[in-house]
Amino acid sequence: MSQPVLEARNLARVFGEFKAVDDVGFTLNPGEIVGFLGPNGAGKTTTIKMLTGLLGPSSGSASIAGYDIATSPIEAKSRIGYVPDTPNLYGKLKAQEYLRFVGQLYKVPAADVEERMRPLLDLFELTDVAGNYLDTFSHGMQQKVAIIGAFLHDPLLVFMDEPTVGLDPRSARLIKDLMIGYRDRGKTIFFSTHILEIAQTMCDRVIIINKGRIVADARVNELRRMRGDQSLEDIFLELTGGQDVDEMVKELADGG
Ligand SMILES: Nc1ncnc2c1ncn2[C@@H]1O[C@H](COP(=O)(O)OP(=O)(O)OP(=O)(O)O)[C@@H](O)[C@H]1O
Ligand SMILES: [Mg+2]
Repeated sequence: MSQPVLEARNLARVFGEFKAVDDVGFTLNPGEIVGFLGPNGAGKTTTIKMLTGLLGPSSGSASIAGYDIATSPIEAKSRIGYVPDTPNLYGKLKAQEYLRFVGQLYKVPAADVEERMRPLLDLFELTDVAGNYLDTFSHGMQQKVAIIGAFLHDPLLVFMDEPTVGLDPRSARLIKDLMIGYRDRGKTIFFSTHILEIAQTMCDRVIIINKGRIVADARVNELRRMRGDQSLEDIFLELTGGQDVDEMVKELADGG
């Protein structure tokens, strides 16, 4: 098997007394889409921030293509793209200025930046507004610019934190197609989502986190087979829920 794109080992993060991420470890390989699932507050964003070098772990380590994110940050970070859960772009830059700036950061030749951003701006119907300031863009438009920026340097691995939130159905479909096309070129996508239907149809593998700990890491079809062919939704609720959701709703309806 080829070298893993990412290795996370015993990652943990505490905030004060609270352990947000606890002993998380997994490997990502070339050519796979891996969904990162878990309830609100489970530790997805915290984990992604540690894997992208934005947040130091309390313990444990992670490496990208063999480069430790803490000790070789430039080598590691140059190989990844990252779409945060909320786009926070520089509002005083025009969209095309922002993308050229990102290209420079990653040392992409200027001609390549133009060549790569043009079809992506076209795809997301942003060509006409590419010369406008980002602070005039809607949330979804900014999200799309952030996504284009994450792919511009053709990284080995793209992290996306809830990439389809706030996107219209057509844009969400475009992004899903972009992710699949990228995977088919041997690249890796790691993304968090609450939309289990997207996870079930798109992911080669899912990792489920609950209260900071990984509770499942398996190929979707294997996970379903192991659990009596239940839907991913039912499996998710079982692995992450206390009381059965349907029972709780029934109790509420019955007046507690
Ligand atoms: N900077 C911080 N200071 C204190 N607590 C934090 C901080 N960042 C995250 N946490 C806590 O860590 C836990 C995990 O948060 P995280 O944002 O990783 O969850 P998540 O799985 O991404 O949730 P969501 O699905 O709602 O995005 C939460 O309990 C959160 O309150
Ligand atoms: Mg989050």
